[in-house]
Amino acid sequence: MSISAPITHRPLFWPRLSAVSALALLAAPRLTPLAAQAPSAKPAFAVPSWAFPTAPAKPNTGPAPRPDSVVLQHVPNSTRAFTMKQVGNAFDIPDWFPEAHPPMPAPAQYGGTRPNGRACGFCHLPDGQGRPENSTLSGLPAAYIRQQVKAFRDSTRLAANPAAATNSMHLLARSVTDDEVALAADYYAALRLTRRNIVREVAQVPKTHVEGMLYAYDRVDGTADTSAGTEPIDGRLIEVPVSFARHELRDPTVPYVTYVPVGSIARGRRLATRGPAGAATTCTVCHGPQLLGKDLVPPIAGRSPSNILRQLMNFRSGARHDSASVTMAPVVERLTVSDMVSLAAYVGSLAPSAPVRRAVLHSK
Ligand code: HEC
Ligand code: HEC
Repeated sequence: MSISAPITHRPLFWPRLSAVSALALLAAPRLTPLAAQAPSAKPAFAVPSWAFPTAPAKPNTGPAPRPDSVVLQHVPNSTRAFTMKQVGNAFDIPDWFPEAHPPMPAPAQYGGTRPNGRACGFCHLPDGQGRPENSTLSGLPAAYIRQQVKAFRDSTRLAANPAAATNSMHLLARSVTDDEVALAADYYAALRLTRRNIVREVAQVPKTHVEGMLYAYDRVDGTADTSAGTEPIDGRLIEVPVSFARHELRDPTVPYVTYVPVGSIARGRRLATRGPAGAATTCTVCHGPQLLGKDLVPPIAGRSPSNILRQLMNFRSGARHDSASVTMAPVVERLTVSDMVSLAAYVGSLAPSAPVRRAVLHSK
């Protein structure tokens, strides 16, 4: 299937998501109607604010404390040590496992033009595993990576929740040259994605709060435990690092647990294999038999479920409207939030590369 299908009915109604919508989203409890603006007969779609976790800005209490430059930090199975100052250096990034990947090209390790041309590896990590709040890059087709950076640059790729702090890619995309992006794209495309996520079907989820752009367990040390209490999953998809401290240290091996409602994975499998709107929208038609990507269509298997979910919402709301995204438009057109949660749970639970293996844990 060609990914350059002609633009037929895709309304580019993103500009109508005005500052008012942005404010409404900020103030939203759980659901904010966004797509009431859609001119077509598509069913209304509400972007749930929980899918785009963004911690409120902290009150300005003067200059931020300087990161520690004395105490050496460690992560499991790495012989290296960095201070928090080094961990936070976006122009010469920490690399806990240099043996796990070929040498990084300069844009991945040192970045481009300051102050916004940060190193790709700062956010997407040296081995391209990425973090749930941004994206995995390893194993994406190089041409797709270049195309997406271009879409961020010309703002044809936005986020369905304008309040979400994913703007870093827009500033970034305007601060790197095409040559720098090409070097990074070739590097990341040649790497393999490894599994880091566990999908858990639950009725009750451990209590969490938002840190930056991610959920963290309420427990003081940020590790999985229910001693801080649980709450109903209530139709949500909540992805949490098993250790927030390791996430903050940019440890590429920290596992993430994704909590979804009971029955999501089987439901997602049905939607993915039968197609949400008939055979033509079966995910495997375009993303390949094991959803590991095909030609320019990106792999989706085994990637961060919360990111998959946000992308489905980005397509559905029209926020992602670059030329290739029109191919996804009919796929998402009739999906409900619950359908998307199920698809993200199923897709995320698959192996990110052959051979197929599943790591799906069900709640007791
Ligand atoms: C400051 C953090 C940051 C840096 C540095 C950064 N990115 Fe990103 N990147 C993001 C975020 C956040 C997203 C997700 C945006 C979204 O989905 O709305 C993203 C998404 C992407 C995507 C989309 C992937 C997909 O699956 O569609 C590509 C491609 C990408 N970045 C490439 C790069 C390259 C190449 C560099 C270096 C030249 C880079 N990024 C540097 C934060 C960053
Ligand atoms: C008709 C072809 C087609 C079908 C069917 C299809 N996709 Fe896609 N998908 C694409 C293309 C092309 C892109 C890249 C869009 C772009 O470049 O903006 C994409 C992108 C995506 C992305 C974003 C990945 C990223 O890296 O950000 C997700 C998630 C996704 N598809 C999920 C699905 C799911 C789930 C299904 C089945 C319910 C599905 N797709 C069915 C063609 C398709």
